[in-house]
Amino acid sequence: MDVTRATAVLDANWLGTSTVPSRALYPHQWSWDSAFIAIGLRHRSPARARRELVTLFSAQWPDGRVPHIVFDPATPPEAYFPGPGFWRAGRTSGIVQAPVHARAVLAVHEAEPDRAFLAELYPKLVAWHEYLRGKRDFGGHGLAAIVHPWESGMDNSPAWDGPLSRVPPAAGFVRRDLEHGHAADRPSDEDYGRYVRLAADYRDSDYTDGGAFVVEDPGFNALLADAELALAEIAERLGLPSDAHREAAARVAKALQETLWHNGFFFARDVRTGSLTPQYTCAGLLPLVLPDLAVAPALLATATGPRFGLGRVHGVPSYDLTAPDFDPGRYWRGPSWFNIGWLVRQGLLHHGEHALAERLRTDLLETAAATDFAEYCDPLTGTGHGTRSFSWTAAVTLDLAQPA
Ligand code: SER
Repeated sequence: MDVTRATAVLDANWLGTSTVPSRALYPHQWSWDSAFIAIGLRHRSPARARRELVTLFSAQWPDGRVPHIVFDPATPPEAYFPGPGFWRAGRTSGIVQAPVHARAVLAVHEAEPDRAFLAELYPKLVAWHEYLRGKRDFGGHGLAAIVHPWESGMDNSPAWDGPLSRVPPAAGFVRRDLEHGHAADRPSDEDYGRYVRLAADYRDSDYTDGGAFVVEDPGFNALLADAELALAEIAERLGLPSDAHREAAARVAKALQETLWHNGFFFARDVRTGSLTPQYTCAGLLPLVLPDLAVAPALLATATGPRFGLGRVHGVPSYDLTAPDFDPGRYWRGPSWFNIGWLVRQGLLHHGEHALAERLRTDLLETAAATDFAEYCDPLTGTGHGTRSFSWTAAVTLDLAQPA
C-alpha cells in the first residue's frame, strides 16, 4: 500500500522533533521541505506535523527570517557542506526559502484544530512575512528578492545562469552532495563554486546586503502572496483582523503582474540589470496558486502547450521541454519535482481545471510510488532521479491519496 510506504519514509526520516528531507543527502531540517512534510504528515500524525513547524520556527531569527537550514547537532559536520562552521550563524544557515509555511500551518490546523498552535505560530508568521516584504524589496517594486539560488529552492534553474555568470566560483571546498548523489543528477562544479562564493559574500555582509545575485522570482513571490492569503484565514480563525494580510497579498500579486508578466508567462527579473531572464521555468507557473489571477487562462495555455506538456508528461517539468539545454535528469534543469506538481494541482483546482488536476494527481501518486519516492523524475519517461525515500515526495503522496 503506497500510503503505508509513504508513512514509513516519513517515519524513517523523523529525527524526534523534525524530519530530514533525506537521511544521506540532506541530513538536517530544511525550511520549505518542512512545510510540505507537515502538509502530508498531518494525515498520519497532526501532533508530529505541528512539532515539525514549531521546531522550524524555534530557529527564527530576531529580524523575522526563517533560516533555510536548521542544523541537527547530532549529525557529524562532514555529513553536509556547507555546515554551521561555514555559515557562522549558530545552529542555522543565514539564507531563506519560499514562504510556504502559513499555508502549511493552516492545513495542519484544518486536519486537527488546535487554537494554541495557531496562536503560537501566527505572530511568527507575521514577522516572517514582514521581513520578506520589508527587508527584501531590493528592487523597489513590492516584491521580495532572493539573494542566492538556494533561496529559490531551485538551485540550478536555468533562469539563474545570467545573474550567476557575474559570480566568480569559489574554490577549496569539498562537495559532500556527490558522495550521495550521481554527478549527472546534481548541479555542476562550476555552479557549486558560485553558490559557495555568494553564500560567503552574504555571510560577510552580516546577512544584510544583496551581492551580485539579486533576483525577483515569480515562484517565490506567488507563494508569498498565497501565504498572506493563508495568514488572513489564520487571523480569522483566531478572531483577529485579516484585512492587512489580504491587502498585502493583493499588493504582491499586483507587483508580480506588473513587473514579471511578459508575453503570456511570468519570468524572473535580474535586479542588478533590470532585465527579465528569458528562460521558461516551472517557477513561472506557480502564480496559478493565486485564485484571483486574471491571466490564468493565458498561463494555462503555456502550461499545457509544448513547453511544459502538462497532462501529457509526468508531473510538471522544471524547465522548458523545447529548450536546447533541457536536461531530464539534472536537478532543476528539466526534471519534475513532486512539490511543484502538488502546487500546480492546487492552481488547476482554483481555475476550474478539474480533469487536468485529477490526471496530474493520479500521475504524481503513481510516479512517486514507482520511483520509491524519488527526489525528482524524468518528465518524459517517469524514471526516478536524485535520492530516494525523499520526504516531501512521500508527504505529497499522503496528501494526494486523501479522498477529495
Ligand atoms: N539544495 C541545496 C543543497 O543541495 C541546499 O539548500 O544542498
